[in-house]
Amino acid sequence: MSDPTHIPVLLNEVIESLAVKPGGRYIDCTVGGGGHTAAILERSYPGGQLLGIDADPNAIELARARLEAYSESTRLINENFANLRDICTKYGFSPVHGILFDLGLSSIQLNGNGRGFSFQHDAPLDMRLNPSQKVTAADILNTYSEAKLAHLIETYGEERRSRQIARSIVRERPIKTTLDLTRIVERAIRRPRGRIHPATKTFQALRIAVNHELENLEATLKQAVSLLGFEGRLVVITYHSLEDRIVKRFMRREAKDCLCPPSTPICVCNHTRSLKLVTKKVITPSPEEVQLNPRSRSAKLRAAERVITPGESYNIVEKLDSIPRRDTHGWRRPVLVKRLRRTFLALQIQYF
Ligand SMILES: C[S@@+](CC[C@H](N)C(=O)[O-])C[C@H]1O[C@@H](n2cnc3c(N)ncnc32)[C@H](O)[C@@H]1O
Repeated sequence: MSDPTHIPVLLNEVIESLAVKPGGRYIDCTVGGGGHTAAILERSYPGGQLLGIDADPNAIELARARLEAYSESTRLINENFANLRDICTKYGFSPVHGILFDLGLSSIQLNGNGRGFSFQHDAPLDMRLNPSQKVTAADILNTYSEAKLAHLIETYGEERRSRQIARSIVRERPIKTTLDLTRIVERAIRRPRGRIHPATKTFQALRIAVNHELENLEATLKQAVSLLGFEGRLVVITYHSLEDRIVKRFMRREAKDCLCPPSTPICVCNHTRSLKLVTKKVITPSPEEVQLNPRSRSAKLRAAERVITPGESYNIVEKLDSIPRRDTHGWRRPVLVKRLRRTFLALQIQYF
């Protein structure tokens, strides 16, 4: 029987990148087994507050039991992080000091709990994070055309032999269980390359499609930035290249002041940066961590910090750079800047 617990990935790196401090307010958008959540709550004690979100009702139920000791400072919500801004508006939870996304699935979901996420455990082909979603993996496999299936497996699974697999799926329909699908893929790919199981990429593709994973990620990142207070941190852990590409591009774009092509003589885009990169290079687990927790092997952590404040208020801070070292009250300039920043945060300024 597989281990039913989930070991949080890059735990110290997450806490460091989020710069968790006592009294801080944090959002964990992917509570899962609650490992990162518990660590954030410990490090933000006393006075810390946390809003935890997960699309899987089962994950929220388990986390509620695990985090009972912190119930006064924690609010756990069964929701999709694609609705992040609405959730925070509803619960009056912004601005915050840090937001974490630890994408993908937890070991509890993968360890064959009858949801159909794993190609190693027999179960109906469901793959929905939340049972209220309409479309299951079986619906896709049994109704899509061969061309549409091949496109899905190629795009979301980055699988080179997608057409062979799609042809076999269509030939063997109806497909009911995970092990049926695993056997079909194994037969379609006669000579597998690399070390991963031949069904890994097809299962990844289906899971991404069923749960609209890439669309949800695209939708939430911008919302997350808008909820961060000045110098608040955004930390994202991804587990495959499609997710990582979205996060990398988003952070790089938001860290630039102008997005005009280099040939444009003057800026016409009027884009101003909202983030500063905290991790110039992606953070990955150490060989020791991978040995201890093989599921961490593909993890990539990226972090960024909120830099701008809204129009006028930010201008005031910027103007401080040009005034003499001491103001008329005798405060040294860094002290003044610090006080202003604190005031902006206290006023709960929202930026977008
Ligand atoms: C890798 S696990 C998180 C593990 C967690 N950090 C821990 O330490 O135990 C990812 C979690 O994100 C959840 N999830 C994935 N996509 C989501 C979405 N769009 N909205 C909310 N939760 C989501 C999954 O249900 C899963 O529980």
